[in-house]
Amino acid sequence: MDFDARGYRTVDVRTGYGQWVGSYERTVEDAMDIGVLAELAVPDWASVRRAADLGCGTGRTGGWLRGQGVAAVDGVDVTPEMLAAARTRGAHDRLVEADLAATGLPGGAYQLVVSSLVDEHLPELGPFYREAWRLTAPGGLCVLVGLHPHFIMTAGMPTHFTTAEGEDIAITTHVHLVSEHLTAGLAAGWQLAEMREAVVGDEWIALKPKWERYRSHPVSAAYVWRRPS
Ligand SMILES: C[S@@+](CC[C@H](N)C(=O)[O-])C[C@H]1O[C@@H](n2cnc3c(N)ncnc32)[C@H](O)[C@@H]1O
Repeated sequence: MDFDARGYRTVDVRTGYGQWVGSYERTVEDAMDIGVLAELAVPDWASVRRAADLGCGTGRTGGWLRGQGVAAVDGVDVTPEMLAAARTRGAHDRLVEADLAATGLPGGAYQLVVSSLVDEHLPELGPFYREAWRLTAPGGLCVLVGLHPHFIMTAGMPTHFTTAEGEDIAITTHVHLVSEHLTAGLAAGWQLAEMREAVVGDEWIALKPKWERYRSHPVSAAYVWRRPS
């Protein structure tokens, strides 16, 4: 889907996050993902004994999950530099360098699979939903939160970062419509238990005054899937 109005030089995921790692946590806003996770009604985070965090990055998501009472979290990421930062943070029990479509983690071992701010980097959603299904025990949940496709297209903005030299660099970004998520999730066997869309409001405008032009537009989407018992 052609949406890119920025025209920044584009690099692949490993190259991009390998360079962004040093400033990543200073630039990513909790309102994009953690604020949405915190609003979800269905997950009972504190009852989760073990979660898998797919695209764990520096461990922001894993750290938040531990803070909610998740007893243990295993993380998977394709970028070694991000995994090194996660290792330093120490929120995860186990950290694996792998594509999230083939994690090598044990099947049926997790009450919860979480993926935050990752789906825009996946060319196809089917492999994610199928691997999450394999990992999840019957009755378990899969929670995916990410940029809303409407926002990526309205802003014409691929995921990007600014280097120390001041160059804006984009990381390969794919737009997945809401219906693509529903189709891929249902095809993998999941039942949709909850969905949330967050819009740009006062909190976002305070963080990014230039986003006044996006006021009331959806900016994030979260899906909570249940694997039937
Ligand atoms: C925006 S960061 C999100 C990190 C973390 N979940 C957070 O919310 O801060 C995206 C992460 O997904 C990872 N990633 C992207 N595609 C991936 C794939 N196919 N398999 C595993 N990790 C992937 C990147 O390396 C990067 O660390």
